[in-house]
Amino acid sequence: MKKMLTAVLITGILALTTAWSSELMSSSNSGGVSSLRGNVAISAINQSESLKKNKKDSGLIDLGYITQPPLIPHKIRGYRIDVLSNKCLSCHSWKNANENNATKISVTHFRTRDGAVLSDVSPRRYFCLQCHVPQTDAKLIVGNSFKPVKALQ
Ligand code: HEC
Ligand code: HEC
Repeated sequence: MKKMLTAVLITGILALTTAWSSELMSSSNSGGVSSLRGNVAISAINQSESLKKNKKDSGLIDLGYITQPPLIPHKIRGYRIDVLSNKCLSCHSWKNANENNATKISVTHFRTRDGAVLSDVSPRRYFCLQCHVPQTDAKLIVGNSFKPVKALQ
């Protein structure tokens, strides 16, 4: 009898929580307070942009100007850069570049800001994505008529 009661109780609680959470998910239960946007869920009027697709890996991307950090011509999803490891360097370091057919990081990446040349990548060049970015198929938000200098055309 006791077991039966417990089972009934648990089922009841489960049903209640499911109903309550689906209520939370499906409608904007504002508790009687109406917001400026009206009584609608944000997701109903403000859909988030879908994720943009990475451009297909297709060889190096031309530079726009001389000292530009080259754009990343490949996917980087899941490439970790933290204090213990740097996925980018597992292909782009001078040691690993040849074997991976990747471009070596530039000599400038070994220099400190005072011009001293270190034996490994300089801390100010460690977080690659500060300067190098991949490209997606996103539409331009504003037009751009920038043309590279003649030497790069
Ligand atoms: C699995 C190996 C691998 C990893 C990891 C990797 N890359 Fe690359 N990367 C390559 C290869 C190979 C190329 C050359 C592509 C080609 O020639 O088509 C390249 C090209 C590049 C270029 C263009 C170089 C140029 O001269 O135009 C940049 C910039 C770059 N990668 C940055 C990065 C960054 C930043 C990361 C980490 C977020 C990273 N890569 C991780 C293999 C890798
Ligand atoms: C502070 C900005 C900055 C950071 C951080 C940075 N780079 Fe660069 N990178 C540049 C610039 C600018 C160039 C082009 C001019 C030069 O060679 O210094 C470049 C050039 C390169 C090149 C092309 C070299 C060549 O010979 O054509 C590769 C590959 C590269 N970076 C990879 C990386 C990787 C991998 C990291 C992270 C470990 C990294 N960079 C961090 C700015 C940066």
